[in-house]
Amino acid sequence: MDGGQRAALVRLDQEVEAPGPAPASGGPGRFLERAAPEGLRFDYATGRTMASHEPKLVCRGVWKIFGAGGKSLIGTASRPTSADLRAAGAVGAVRDVNIEVREGEIFVIMGLSGSGKSTLVRCLSRLIEPTSGDILFNGENLLAASEARMIEIRRHQMGMVFQHFALLPHLTVLANVAFPLEIQGIERAAREERARRMIDLVGLAGKETAFPRELSGGQQQRVGIARSLAVEPELWFLDEPFSALDPLIRREMQDEFLRLQSVLKKTIVFITHDFDEAIRLADRIAIMKDGEIVQAGTPEDLVLNPATPYVAEFTRSVARAKVVKVASLMRPLNGVLPPASIRAAAPIAEAAPLFSAGNEALAVLDGAGKPVGLIDRAAVVDVMMRG
Ligand SMILES: Nc1ncnc2c1ncn2[C@@H]1O[C@H](COP(=O)(O)OP(=O)(O)OP(=O)(O)O)[C@@H](O)[C@H]1O
Ligand SMILES: [Mg+2]
Repeated sequence: MDGGQRAALVRLDQEVEAPGPAPASGGPGRFLERAAPEGLRFDYATGRTMASHEPKLVCRGVWKIFGAGGKSLIGTASRPTSADLRAAGAVGAVRDVNIEVREGEIFVIMGLSGSGKSTLVRCLSRLIEPTSGDILFNGENLLAASEARMIEIRRHQMGMVFQHFALLPHLTVLANVAFPLEIQGIERAAREERARRMIDLVGLAGKETAFPRELSGGQQQRVGIARSLAVEPELWFLDEPFSALDPLIRREMQDEFLRLQSVLKKTIVFITHDFDEAIRLADRIAIMKDGEIVQAGTPEDLVLNPATPYVAEFTRSVARAKVVKVASLMRPLNGVLPPASIRAAAPIAEAAPLFSAGNEALAVLDGAGKPVGLIDRAAVVDVMMRG
């Protein structure tokens, strides 16, 4: 193993062992965004401690038009609608998309089939060449990068789980997971060591010598996930990774995924067309329709303030109390702390049973257990009553 590989493995160790960033110190109210030590912050919208304010990935004015003359169509002064594009014999698969994915967050892109999700995520890694726009990864403009540079970035800094990914049927689980490392030229012992660690991480220890055909669908999916993690990506793209699974296994995989993320703290772009999956996993969700992002925000934003009927349709079946976080109904501390408490990141539904007789408020705690505000029974009841 050379120095670089050792450094990479050490880096993985640190990622796996680090308990995660310390939350910001407490304060009076949710309206005060405080600078936390070491560039970390507590996000009141999601109730989670975010690694930093810095966007890992910025996507500005990105278009992808399939068909002839794409560039000239968007070069005109007025913005072409999807009908304009269709009339010109083109498909506006991605239309003027602007998003920022922050370090350490799970950013979910959702929308109906054909809304442009896969095309967008492929544009982000330039597997598909965007027609126009800017994509900045760690501040570097990917659209100005050479093909060689893009290959290097994809191989070393990005991980991808595709919608229809295939394992290599003639290779064992171990060889499949180690495959991207083999492409990187990492010698056998080192790549197999790392592959074993990833297999362990996704709960497949003992299956190293199995072939894909000997695994269930869910197990194959885990191999795909382990394989995409083997390169230790900074930015991880997952395109409907659980869609082919039946509901029970799908839920298990979602739990597994959240557990993995609590350890690995990757920056993740996750595609799904299932809103329940989106709200379980997302820090923020962007909803796509016809190639455009119609709304982006926290799950709460989307449920409480849907921007369009299309968004409302997605969010209609979701019980507010399961989505709205304690943090969003919190008021400032006023001296006396009630005896009972709840985490700022918890959904309102969890707060309801904690009010006892004569106890009209709960203390709200941040991720480190420090009181950051109060929540009133009346506010909780109001959300519960509205369903
Ligand atoms: N290579 C291509 N050439 C022409 N049109 C394409 C191409 N790839 C995708 N499209 C079109 O672009 C639009 C967006 O497709 P995309 O695959 O991004 O949708 P999606 O949101 O991922 O859908 P799904 O949920 O079904 O995976 C669709 O209308 C599709 O037909
Ligand atoms: Mg797709």
